[in-house]
Amino acid sequence: MSQTNVPRRVMRQRWSKILLFVLCLYPVVRWFWLGTHDGLSANPPEFLIRSSGTWALVLLWVTLCVTPLRRILNRPALVRYRRMLGLYAFFYTVLHVVAWALWDRGGVWGSMWDDIGARTFITIGTVATLMLVPLALTSTQGWMRRLGRNWTRLHALIYPAAMLSVWHFYLMRAGKNDFFEPNVYTATLVGLFALRGIYRWRRARPGRPVQQPVSGGSRLSRQIQK
Ligand code: HEM
Repeated sequence: MSQTNVPRRVMRQRWSKILLFVLCLYPVVRWFWLGTHDGLSANPPEFLIRSSGTWALVLLWVTLCVTPLRRILNRPALVRYRRMLGLYAFFYTVLHVVAWALWDRGGVWGSMWDDIGARTFITIGTVATLMLVPLALTSTQGWMRRLGRNWTRLHALIYPAAMLSVWHFYLMRAGKNDFFEPNVYTATLVGLFALRGIYRWRRARPGRPVQQPVSGGSRLSRQIQK
């Protein structure tokens, strides 16, 4: 096996997906460890709400990076990990919302509604979460086949959802006037948009060979998403 082929072979192994699955559980294990070792700060609910929000955002961004990385590194098999990463982003979003609902709002529906209407950053976070729901529900191979080209259109919702998520983060940090982290996420998102634009432009140039869309249920997609 040549050295350059090692990452390709690793990506085609089933255990690499299992490894990624376990790695993505790191935040849960960390919270459990901190919880049992008095490490959840002086305000555990706030710590958990913020930490789950951070991990939701990190995993959303990692998911967004899969397609550009696949192209830059010429590793089509990377797409095998996209669904799992996206579902983990959704999982941490759900934990974040549940933590807010239980600890910030005491599990009272009326109080949740009031907060969604009263605080702009909560309104924006709610819209972002609602956008992620259809993406999580239709992430399976079956839905990919059923929706065909519309699947790709629907899943483009990830971009407005990401923009709203980072806006939610900005508004939340506005009180502290600390925008370093939201700025880093925004810069990455702008870079991802730029890359998308470049690839679209290169594909549209006359004389370029037509590339099969990987997310639209091509044979390659079916092979590598197994
Ligand atoms: C119903 C939807 C949502 C609600 C109710 C909600 C609520 C909250 C609350 C209460 C905080 C903590 C504010 C504070 O401590 O002052 C927070 C922070 C945060 N949320 Fe959300 N959120 C929602 C959706 C999202 C989504 C979709 C994402 C990203 C995918 C996200 C990412 C974050 C981040 C990154 C933080 C800041 C963490 C930090 O301080 O480092 N939230 N959110």
